[in-house]
Amino acid sequence: MSNKPDFEVFRGSSNYIASKELMNSVNVAIALKKPMLIKGEPGTGKTMLARAIADTLGKQLLVWGIKSTTKASEGLYVYDTVQRLYDSQFGGHDVSNIRHYIKLGKLGEAFVSDEQAVLLIDEIDKADLEFPNDLLWELDQMSFYIPETKETIHARHRPIVIITSNAEKELPDAFLRRCIFHYIAFPSPEAMSEIVRVHYADLDKKLIEKAMEIFYWIRSFDDLQKKPSTSELLDWLQALVIGGVEPSEIKEGSIPFTGVLLKKNQDIDSLLNQARDRRVVSGFFDAIRR
Ligand SMILES: Nc1ncnc2c1ncn2[C@@H]1O[C@H](COP(=O)(O)OP(=O)(O)OP(=O)(O)O)[C@@H](O)[C@H]1O
Ligand SMILES: [Mg+2]
Repeated sequence: MSNKPDFEVFRGSSNYIASKELMNSVNVAIALKKPMLIKGEPGTGKTMLARAIADTLGKQLLVWGIKSTTKASEGLYVYDTVQRLYDSQFGGHDVSNIRHYIKLGKLGEAFVSDEQAVLLIDEIDKADLEFPNDLLWELDQMSFYIPETKETIHARHRPIVIITSNAEKELPDAFLRRCIFHYIAFPSPEAMSEIVRVHYADLDKKLIEKAMEIFYWIRSFDDLQKKPSTSELLDWLQALVIGGVEPSEIKEGSIPFTGVLLKKNQDIDSLLNQARDRRVVSGFFDAIRR
């Protein structure tokens, strides 16, 4: 048996930095033909991962964004009875062919696609608890039945399914059993430097260093309600450039554009208190050293 995989291998992309563990998980999920469940703090690149996989493997990306009201059946197909009724009354169309009123959802589109697609089911935990259970059969069998047309839709090519969750709700065990799970850990400063570099190749090194130092210092506070994430750091760097801020102007006691990093009043207060306490402590040590 050859050790060479018989599928295209994901190795990250020119604008997405993936850890070795993440790349391995993606490749295992593709090889085992199982959906991949991605969790991680907001802004750690869960959604972007699906785009990176589609881009690097040269596949079409289909995005199914889940809301609290989304039903699993909408991912398969929707029978547009309202349009049919409208056409029967005002359109002068032949409404006898129900097929014209069957609109495939994102899972349906992925099944009928001529080439293998990447299907992103984004933020599955937004839907109700039944949602993941209702998809088990279709994801296992890669087919579904449309009673209105008495047709079964089989996947021509099994899509690569990426499912993201912010862990707002626990997912059912039966669903978890069928997925390959990966938790995107918050990037280390080294990995974050690479992420920053792929977004802003020409940014002043000193500004990045100083901004990252303050960013990780803020993240080290345990009592923050919402720690700033990768996306906030990227926005903040942009704000610093637009604001013409020099690296020397970024200090623990006076952080420009704090609102880009922290979004809750309590967190901004807590940051100011920490900075003040530090000044008091270092002032005390300075005094006894003198
Ligand atoms: N590993 C990475 N490589 C490159 N860019 C990244 C990476 N991780 C995050 N980003 C950047 O951070 C931003 C947020 O990424 P994304 O929207 O994928 O996060 P998310 O985990 O889906 O967040 P949420 O849970 O809020 O939906 C994007 O602009 C993305 O470009
Ligand atoms: Mg997302």
